[in-house]
Amino acid sequence: MTAPKSFAGMLAIHRTDFPADFRWGCSTSSYQIEGAAHEDGRGESIWDRFCATPGKIRDGSNGDVACDHYHRWPEDMEMAKGLGVNAYRFSIAWPRIFPQGVGAQPNAQGLDFYSRLVDGMLERGLQPWATLYHWDLPQALQDQGGWVKRDTVDAYLAYTDAVTRHLGDRVKHWITHNEPFCSAFLGHHEGNHAPGIRDHAAALQVCHHLLLSHGRAFPLIKRNVADAKVGITLSLHPISPATQSAADVAAAVRHDGTRNRWFLDPLYGRGYPADVLQMLGKLAPTVQDGDLAAIATPADFLGVNYYFPETVADAPGQGVTQSRIVESHDVERTAFGWEVSPQGMTTLLDRVHRDYAPGDIYLTENGSTWDDQMLPDGTVNDAQRVSYLARHLGAAKQAMALGVPLKGYFYWSLLDNFEWAEGYIRRFGLAWVDYATQKRTLKASGHWYANFLKG
Ligand code: FCB
Repeated sequence: MTAPKSFAGMLAIHRTDFPADFRWGCSTSSYQIEGAAHEDGRGESIWDRFCATPGKIRDGSNGDVACDHYHRWPEDMEMAKGLGVNAYRFSIAWPRIFPQGVGAQPNAQGLDFYSRLVDGMLERGLQPWATLYHWDLPQALQDQGGWVKRDTVDAYLAYTDAVTRHLGDRVKHWITHNEPFCSAFLGHHEGNHAPGIRDHAAALQVCHHLLLSHGRAFPLIKRNVADAKVGITLSLHPISPATQSAADVAAAVRHDGTRNRWFLDPLYGRGYPADVLQMLGKLAPTVQDGDLAAIATPADFLGVNYYFPETVADAPGQGVTQSRIVESHDVERTAFGWEVSPQGMTTLLDRVHRDYAPGDIYLTENGSTWDDQMLPDGTVNDAQRVSYLARHLGAAKQAMALGVPLKGYFYWSLLDNFEWAEGYIRRFGLAWVDYATQKRTLKASGHWYANFLKG
């Protein structure tokens, strides 16, 4: 694999700028790539149901086939190996393990699939990083109230127990949850993600149960897996006020409270932030004795997914935070409209490290979507993604120079895939997927990453 000549100048960042033991990877998730929705005993997930509801997914698609990774995983692992990464982050589909959410016995075919996949990674020198929950709750549990119900925490623990017993001899890195903000608030407050509920109080209760399940899973995984490293992945944003007015500054603090501190404070032993609890009033979740101590169980690492910064202005009367996100002008944006700010990543990592000292930090996702085109000669010249990637690696290096114990970087994503409510419109991959033929083609960014990793 050689990088196109036009990108040679962007190689201002080198692998040797990072420590030799730095983890280099790429990320995916089960529902976004696997397909095989009705095979080998897999049960229905909330995303199957959500996609089947008219009007929910922009292009009317679903994850029934997606990238057909369930059948093509050897080719995908070969591609990851070819990139030169030494780690691969994937997620396990709960409905493949317990099709009804709970059960006396896990589904052997589901466990076998992940067992083969993990063996395939190890054979290729890829360290497996497994996420236990990347949003695909079994629909049967949703029918009984889903994450709003405390019982779902117990179901999650039983699922985690089965998976970690089965794979724990080979998988040592476990992420309990991916972005509880999205599962809780996009799924239950904004309603634009599965299960499509719009109820702020419910979302806050869901969020509490997600965090509780993380804390309670921790000792269980440690018991089942010798030498396990266990953490959680949060989607975090650096937040700044639109102006230096006292009102905007205070609004930014309120927004940061719901967006970042609401997760970080309880995870790092401070309980839910008092200012946010006060704003929430009656919406605040029910918290039982011992919950906060469980959530604060010290984890081995923190996973950070970084995509964009947020600028916030005071907005009296708007939501509980009385604030609004301001679209700053004259900034570079991805095709999704997300502001591109490598500097924001440095600021965020530095802040998290200084305010919470979580110990080892991994960037478990970072990536971008552009209007990629497959050219007649069969190449995809995604110069913007190359630039994005190179600059964010520079920002990672800067954060480390500030003293942040950053230990690894996982690019989102290996492949173009099903981007939730946006369907297949948004391409985030280092490899282009032709959904009609399932052919994978490494984009210029994939070549660039491979070249970077080669040194
Ligand atoms: C993150 C999700 C991931 C993917 C990227 C673009 O919020 O964790 O599944 O959709 O955004």
